[in-house]
Amino acid sequence: MIGARLDEEVLVILRFRFARLCLLVFTLCTAACAEDASQAWLRYAPPFGTRPFPAYDRMPASLVDLDNSPVAASAQNELLHGVRSMLGKTLRLEPSVTGQDAWILGTPSEIAAALPQYPRPSLDAQGFSLSILSAHSHTYWIVAGADPRGILYGAFHVLAGIAQGQAFAQLAGSQSPAAPIRWVNQWDNLNGTIERGYGGRSIFFDNGSVRSDLTRAGEYARLLASIGVNGCTINNVNADPRILTPQMIQGVSRIADVFRPWGVRLSISVPISAPQDIGGLDTFDPGNPAVAAWWKAKVDALYAAIPDFAGFVVKADSEGQPGPSHYGRSPADAANMLAAALKPHGGIVLYRAFVYNHHLDWNDLKADRARAAYDIFHPLDGHFADNVVIQIKNGPIDFQVREPVSPLFAGLHQTNTAVELQITQEYMGQQRQLVYLPTQWQTYLDFNLHAEDRDTPLKNIVDGQAFHRPLGGYIGVADVGLDPNWLGSDLALANLYGFGRLAWNPNTPADTIAKDWTRLTFSSDPTVVSTLSRMLLSSWSIYENYTGAPLGLQTLTNITGPHYGPAPQSQENNGWGQWIRADPNGVGMDRTVSTGTGFIGQYPPVVARLYDSLQTCPDNLLLFMHHVPYTYRLHTGKTVIQTLYDDHYIGATEAARLVRDWKTLDGLIAPQPYEATLKMLEYQAGEAIVWRDAIDRWFLKMSGIPDDRNRIDHDPNRITASEMQLDGYMPINVTPWETASGGKAYVCEDRSVCTAALHFTRPAGWYNVSVQYFDYRQGVSTFRLILNHQTLATWTADNTLPGEQPNGDTSSRFTLPGVPLRPGDVLSIEGQPNDGEPAPIDYMEMTPQPGSAESAHP
Ligand code: GCU
Repeated sequence: MIGARLDEEVLVILRFRFARLCLLVFTLCTAACAEDASQAWLRYAPPFGTRPFPAYDRMPASLVDLDNSPVAASAQNELLHGVRSMLGKTLRLEPSVTGQDAWILGTPSEIAAALPQYPRPSLDAQGFSLSILSAHSHTYWIVAGADPRGILYGAFHVLAGIAQGQAFAQLAGSQSPAAPIRWVNQWDNLNGTIERGYGGRSIFFDNGSVRSDLTRAGEYARLLASIGVNGCTINNVNADPRILTPQMIQGVSRIADVFRPWGVRLSISVPISAPQDIGGLDTFDPGNPAVAAWWKAKVDALYAAIPDFAGFVVKADSEGQPGPSHYGRSPADAANMLAAALKPHGGIVLYRAFVYNHHLDWNDLKADRARAAYDIFHPLDGHFADNVVIQIKNGPIDFQVREPVSPLFAGLHQTNTAVELQITQEYMGQQRQLVYLPTQWQTYLDFNLHAEDRDTPLKNIVDGQAFHRPLGGYIGVADVGLDPNWLGSDLALANLYGFGRLAWNPNTPADTIAKDWTRLTFSSDPTVVSTLSRMLLSSWSIYENYTGAPLGLQTLTNITGPHYGPAPQSQENNGWGQWIRADPNGVGMDRTVSTGTGFIGQYPPVVARLYDSLQTCPDNLLLFMHHVPYTYRLHTGKTVIQTLYDDHYIGATEAARLVRDWKTLDGLIAPQPYEATLKMLEYQAGEAIVWRDAIDRWFLKMSGIPDDRNRIDHDPNRITASEMQLDGYMPINVTPWETASGGKAYVCEDRSVCTAALHFTRPAGWYNVSVQYFDYRQGVSTFRLILNHQTLATWTADNTLPGEQPNGDTSSRFTLPGVPLRPGDVLSIEGQPNDGEPAPIDYMEMTPQPGSAESAHP
């Protein structure tokens, strides 16, 4: 027996050592392969780590590129690089196919000219076909593209397949993109800042000029090409006219040069007033021949510098931007004038339908911003030139956490349309919170608008099928920046990746995209793939629940501020029209035809009937479409108000689960992204509590109806600063009031150090101690958590959250787990202000660790 025990022990030790060795090998590999976040999903890590990948043992050793375009050269180089990185082998470049096995790159006709046996596939523009051909006793692995872009997309497809452990034979088949337009818009300003960008400064501009070093711009084009994106608009839709000066055009042409090898065409946003702003004309009236001539000359100059220039994006008559309405002209007049200048060169105009009056009368119950796009553009259907595309945001308001699909998509039958989605998370936590957007986008793209009483899902409208349009597609507002991981968060890159995948094929399930992205970015380890994809797929609904929108109430964020933290009142009482119409009796915008704004009547009859009736309107859009009493019962049987309360608790609980899920991946993800993501998710879990408390408090006050579980402001674990013994800390009012306990924050203003102390009176046990404080963009206050006389922890408020006041934008949480507390203990927070940030605090929370409160007496 003893011998057996010893053997077992030895075995256990050996197993442990082996596991450590495996972990080390894995860590070295993942660290080496994944350290550079700028590679995103193009990491090209060996799919099986150190294990062999037999499917490629007998791959052809030669590579023949039959197409001599620069884009095909990128495909060739990418294959060389990717194969070497993943398979440890370097392909030989050969000029011709004869006498050897070979990988072959080319168009079907180029390949057939070299290999007459090749059965030419029929491919749509930019499509590709992968096949294996045996001829002359040789084997050819063929990457055929309808054109150079198709060849490049085919090469990236092969590499993504290898990275996920697929044999070349498994990849065989043809694909073509769903729509011709697959563009990203960047909202970069010429000074190097980015509107709604959260990933650092512009990769294109700095200090009023195009950057001298455009390395990242070229790398960005490569990333875009790898997911099939073929166009990029490089500057803010709130466009600076100086983008059109001769000097700037020269700079912009350098950006086009670094895009070109990747098949990404460059476009710019232009203000319609440019002829007056920088052109020396005293008008920008689209009906004036001198204005049209100015644009024509400008477009000619653009094409002289950038022969493959893609066209213009136009934001006009919107949020203060000048527009044709100034001269009594229509969007069609403006768009067609620009289109006429671009047409001879093959350029297009993306004219945005985001046109609305932001000085609406809040007292007018019939006024409705959601109506604007349809009211303005529907009457113009058929009046736009064929190289104009109307770029329509997915919903009628503005990238909210949930909106219905814009009815305008069903209202333009003789006009090209594209859907504008937002990759940068403006209203979705600004990359500080995990929200995987393909899940949301897919609900929009699959939504059947029933135009002409036919099946017309949004995806089939924008790809041109539904109304037989020659042009259309997908625009994603990306806003990448100079940060190594492009968007400011490693996980947010799943949204950029997902945008490209859906624009290529909107039928790709969000789940497949999540899993592919996870494998390519982090690891093919089944635990990583299943855990992370589950986290990604649940994240939209989690965010929707805690941000206040579960019944179609938009995002309830601070719309007159940074669009970040909770501020429901900011929706109301102003001209912006994001109203939720909450009053003491009920909530929601009445958009019905009979009693409301009539917005619902803009949809085709099948959809209008669905939304107009309280019986059939889906709960998750109820308050977007109807105004109902708080006591109204949903299809679930629960009242509106109790649902609002409960869903915020559910959202916050689920946000905490994301942290626990991520922690199970410790050791399976490279250390740097693991730690950065953990920090982000922990912050998010705290912010979800801020949202939950703020929105539930606000609705409690507004409705006067208590939560049936009496949770709001009755947290047994929480002690607010107002209940503590204060030395130096003084109360100030918080705006909005609901974002801090009792509407007050406690600040340390006239002292170099202040303290807030509490006497612990609860049972002895192990507790997680949380301190809720405020962390402004400026200033780095220092905090100390003290138990009696022992310093438990110190931390600094060094986050760069979007605010300079204590409120939901800046509220933050520090948690120290596992603190042994006993009755009679004094727990205190010491705050040291810095640079105008007065070390502000809100409350402390002592949460007993599960099962350890009294039994495990510390
Ligand atoms: C939102 C966003 C603005 C942007 C605008 C647009 O309102 O907050 O920053 O300019 O959309 O899409 O034009």
